[in-house]
Amino acid sequence: MSEHVLIEREDALLTIRLNRPEKKNALTRAIYGAMAEGLMQAAADDGVRVVILAGGTDFTAGNDITDFAAVGDRPATEPGAAFSFLETIMGFPKPVVAAVRGYAVGIGTTMLLHCDAVVASETARLQMPFTRLGLVPEAGSSMLLPARIGPARANWLLLSGAAFSGAEAAAYGLATRAVPDNEVEPAALEMAHTLAALPPGSVAETKRLIRAPHAAALAEAMAAERVAFGERLRTAEAQAAFAGFLKKK
Ligand code: COA
Repeated sequence: MSEHVLIEREDALLTIRLNRPEKKNALTRAIYGAMAEGLMQAAADDGVRVVILAGGTDFTAGNDITDFAAVGDRPATEPGAAFSFLETIMGFPKPVVAAVRGYAVGIGTTMLLHCDAVVASETARLQMPFTRLGLVPEAGSSMLLPARIGPARANWLLLSGAAFSGAEAAAYGLATRAVPDNEVEPAALEMAHTLAALPPGSVAETKRLIRAPHAAALAEAMAAERVAFGERLRTAEAQAAFAGFLKKK
């Protein structure tokens, strides 16, 4: 477990809360591992009906760029911690409700494509700055985002890395709802309670059916992204972008 992930349990709800506010909840390998562990714990516990994924004033500023920069220290064949977490959330059988405030950058945005309901603060700032970092999309977003919000918007957001608000995310259909910042957690809690009160077998089967038609294409997209992402991390373009960010500190 990581000190930067809090697991909170209240009756049938399990909240996985990112807690590294001094780094805007940037995700280290240990944090991905702890999130995956929290999900596995929730999957195995019959008493847990719904998982809430939350941060604090920020959701997450994405993958820790120090970890990206150090990719050369790890064997190219080593599975990335982010990909292992993504596989866990993709296979997770119970509903996941995300509560998004502040920054939701990179995987902070793309992981929302794997949640079943997303409550965003109207003022949240979402962004997929992959090209700005010399990278490529991950989390199946190259396939899921166009399917979710339409190719025109998805092309622009993925190619340009432009930021957008939580209000825009809801208007695009990426978030389920956008609410004032102080209402994000209560709204997520209410939606989670609604789902938790329903027959769990029916909810799980409905989630499975919603996802099944896209599963093969998603697996293919993820596999292609994984290869390209691993290669891109090691390029001079990407390493220069990481160094630029880390130098600003
Ligand atoms: N990886 C590592 N550290 C990060 C980080 C990341 N993804 N995001 C933020 N941090 C750190 C900053 O370096 C800073 O650390 P310091 O106080 O030790 O210098 C701290 O978190 C606060 O961030 P800061 O940049 O000062 O806040 P800001 O409000 O000026 O800007 C962001 C917020 C999110 C716009 C900016 O931090 C940012 O661009 N982060 C990188 C986002 C990103 O590209 N993620 C990867 C996507 S694939």
